[in-house]
Amino acid sequence: MITTLGTLDQRLQQKAVETSLRKFDKKYLILSGKGGVGKTTVAVNLAWLKAKEGHKVGLLDIDLHGPDLAHAMYLEDRRLSVDENGRLIPAQAAENLWVMTVQHLLGRRQEAVMWRGPRKIRAIIQFISETAWPELDYLFIDSPPGTGDETLTVLRNIPDVKALVVSTGQSMSISDVAKALDCLKTCQTETFGLVENLSSLICPECGGKTPLYGLGGCQKLASEAGISYLTDLPMDPAASLLADQKKTPLVEAAPDSPLTLKLIELAAKL
Ligand SMILES: Nc1ncnc2c1ncn2[C@@H]1O[C@H](COP(=O)(O)OP(=O)(O)O)[C@@H](O)[C@H]1O
Ligand SMILES: [Mg+2]
Repeated sequence: MITTLGTLDQRLQQKAVETSLRKFDKKYLILSGKGGVGKTTVAVNLAWLKAKEGHKVGLLDIDLHGPDLAHAMYLEDRRLSVDENGRLIPAQAAENLWVMTVQHLLGRRQEAVMWRGPRKIRAIIQFISETAWPELDYLFIDSPPGTGDETLTVLRNIPDVKALVVSTGQSMSISDVAKALDCLKTCQTETFGLVENLSSLICPECGGKTPLYGLGGCQKLASEAGISYLTDLPMDPAASLLADQKKTPLVEAAPDSPLTLKLIELAAKL
């Protein structure tokens, strides 16, 4: 939490954050020590599935330097507007689904965000507390790799956020994710569990399944850290391609794919 002994400004900010957080029921931070392991993919598809079930869902992008949510939701051309109280209005992606990403604030699609610590922390606080979120059943927060300012801002300001950790079975990913788990422990954040992504490859030609990166590394990591191993997700290039073609998350574009079926099982656990 932000210190209660801070300036008036900080205390007002803390109040605003607390008020906003009361509008969100379940909050999940999708994180990993590593980039490119499927955090955004998991966040987007779980959010989509929950929204389709009729829940009100928010997707918050705190990957300020590599904001992929707009791309992953096929909403690159949206721009954020403000309401009569000066609050940012999240982009509505579908019925029951709202997205907040810095990408929608940029003047150009390729514009780089070159912010340092305090500016980044301020932006994330603003995305939580100065944004016209509706009441939400689920808030999914998509994070950058590692345990820097962005992730720590969420861990410190959303005490009841649950971490959904994504890794691959590759040893480099496992050793980086172990550091993220150490950070969660230090911050006393509840870890909901570990998802192993890209555990096998579904052949786009024959549908056959080939294991990737060796087996067992993620289960071992989860058991050593004392957290739940939630599921393994196959790499399904055909489903990914269909998502791009239909411009909709893969659970919608490829409803019968083995990857979608696993994501549906995972969503049921949330
Ligand atoms: N299970 C999967 N099957 C097919 N493609 C995947 C899968 N998981 C991730 N990808 C693809 O891999 C790339 C990286 O995934 P992404 O979700 O952006 O990772 P991160 O957010 O951890 O950096 C993206 O192009 C995504 O579409
Ligand atoms: Mg990402």
